Amino acid sequence: MNRKKIIAGNWKMNKTALEGGTLAQEIAAAVGKETVVEVVLCPPFTALESVGRAIDGTAIRLGAQNMHPERNGAFTGEVSAEMLRALFTTHVILGHSERRMYFGENDAFINRKVLAALANQLRPILCVGETLTEREAGSTLAVVQRQIEGGLQGVTKEQITTIIIAYEPVWAIGTGKVATAAQAQEVHAFIRNLITKLYGQALAQKVRILYGGSMKPSNAPELLAQPDIDGGLIGGASLEERSFLDLITAAAAVNQ
Ligand code: 13P
Repeated sequence: MNRKKIIAGNWKMNKTALEGGTLAQEIAAAVGKETVVEVVLCPPFTALESVGRAIDGTAIRLGAQNMHPERNGAFTGEVSAEMLRALFTTHVILGHSERRMYFGENDAFINRKVLAALANQLRPILCVGETLTEREAGSTLAVVQRQIEGGLQGVTKEQITTIIIAYEPVWAIGTGKVATAAQAQEVHAFIRNLITKLYGQALAQKVRILYGGSMKPSNAPELLAQPDIDGGLIGGASLEERSFLDLITAAAAVNQ
């Protein structure tokens, strides 16, 4: 199955509107016509508009890093799917481990966001992954299973291929400690099996599963060559033009 690779940059809480627009312009100038790899930029809310303007008319897609499941109302500090759509956002990261860890998000709440995103034609990038303690306790697969099953409650067969999954072992995020290609592939294959059980093989073969956690140009080729790794969700290395472009090149090379 030839799944189109995705390289998505999660800028986290970095870049002002101006800085983000500038970086996006540089990326657009270099890979705006890229069609072999799907490129997604996920700036903070405040830079969605400037980044959207910079990539307008290119093949690059715009993603948000979070959203609230409700349409509107008294939810101070939150942003809805409709607001994101109004800025031409097409993707939204949901359930990132930093949201789970620092903002107490659980699987049930993340599931509400997944359903709301789908209902509003936004593609969720659903993040899952174990902590170091969980890995050392041998519960990696159980944790990932709980997060996937919880996050996908109520997602239909018609919707499942719209969802992008990101496996991000928490111990590998921003630490420089990357999962080995074999460690990552093991979990990616497990996730695809799980989706096969839930939705059948034909659909599971179409779902893109990204790896995230200290991915950079030096380790990307080996990770991206794994049969069930369909791209990367990139933190640190997405903040700088050169490394992000090199990751896109690495993904394009694997696709050929
Ligand atoms: P780093 O690439 O900085 O480890 O971050 C990964 C991540 O959390 C992407 O969502």
